[in-house]
Amino acid sequence: MNVALLGFGVVGRGVYDLTLDRSDINIKYVVCLEDVTLPGVTVTRDYQQILNDETVDTVVEAMGGLHPAWDFVKAAIEAGKNVVTSNKAMAATFYDELLPLVQGKKVLFRCTAAVGGGIGWLSELGRVRRCETVLSVGGIMNGTCNYILDNMTRQGLDYDVALKQAQSLGYAEANPSTDVDGIDTWHKIILSSNVAFGVSLDKQSVPVCGIRNIQAADVAEFTKRGYTCKLISTGKRTENGFSAYVQPTLCKAEELEAHIPMNFNLITFEGASAGRQSLYGQGAGRYPTAYNVVQDLCDLLAGNGFYAPCTGTVAAKNDGLLRFYVRGASDAWLQSVTAESWGSGVVTGPVAVDEIHAWLKNHPDCFMAAIR
Ligand code: HSE
Repeated sequence: MNVALLGFGVVGRGVYDLTLDRSDINIKYVVCLEDVTLPGVTVTRDYQQILNDETVDTVVEAMGGLHPAWDFVKAAIEAGKNVVTSNKAMAATFYDELLPLVQGKKVLFRCTAAVGGGIGWLSELGRVRRCETVLSVGGIMNGTCNYILDNMTRQGLDYDVALKQAQSLGYAEANPSTDVDGIDTWHKIILSSNVAFGVSLDKQSVPVCGIRNIQAADVAEFTKRGYTCKLISTGKRTENGFSAYVQPTLCKAEELEAHIPMNFNLITFEGASAGRQSLYGQGAGRYPTAYNVVQDLCDLLAGNGFYAPCTGTVAAKNDGLLRFYVRGASDAWLQSVTAESWGSGVVTGPVAVDEIHAWLKNHPDCFMAAIR
């Protein structure tokens, strides 16, 4: 297999390292902006060179972001090349275009490393859905947020200190807003829900709230009351269709999610026959993520692409009711739904997820967490 590797950052470099000694995977090109010299590899900024080289059968996209990643991937597929990507933003955003293109061009495509870093979640979910009605997917999908929340909870660290540590360990995205504002998790639950339910969720219908505004005093209040705060993603079938959202969530001690340490992820599906199953592992970092890219390349060598049918775009409806902890605002709506006080915050009675997320858009300095 002759591979063109797009991007030589955290993941791209990891893929290069993990394939160095393999005779079946040859990195022929690296496309990147960095000035690197790699023995036996053509390092180039000219993507057309890859499209023109018929000996390149596979493109590994590890650039991240929407453009030019999607333009390169689309051109590769149109040129008849197989694609492996770790790019959740691209896969979630162009899902309804990507799958028919892959099928029409009869190429192989895989994106296991896009959700869960080193966990084989999407590969497993692709298997699950072959013979199972998936009722729900979700859990802890962002290593950076889990690292920050875990260190705030166990070591009493301030938010800024914990974030800097996560960045220095290579867990965080180049722009940490992508992690702490929940955008990374948002793309991951959209992609996971799409695979699980055979649809393409309208991104704008999936509300997201991150952990940027959490303070040590919030965490202390949660600990006192027996809760652990985690950034939890949810995608589920409902009577109305589908519901999907991302929000900080207070987990009880008896829930697995409450005990997930460091940068680990815990991703769970519930199937009509199989019941609940969870996958746990390193959700971020160079080698865990690169490992799943290499696993995908091994699957391509065996002729196994990933394809989940998609019946079309649907909007999520989040009218399920939950209680929420809110700190940092006091207006008529919040007062009208407040049931009790918790430290410097309040706890609402049951409120629709869509309703509180719409309210939060006008209160960007608030911290909010759902209570399970
Ligand atoms: N920044 C991501 C995380 C990397 O922290 O989980 C994996 O997508």
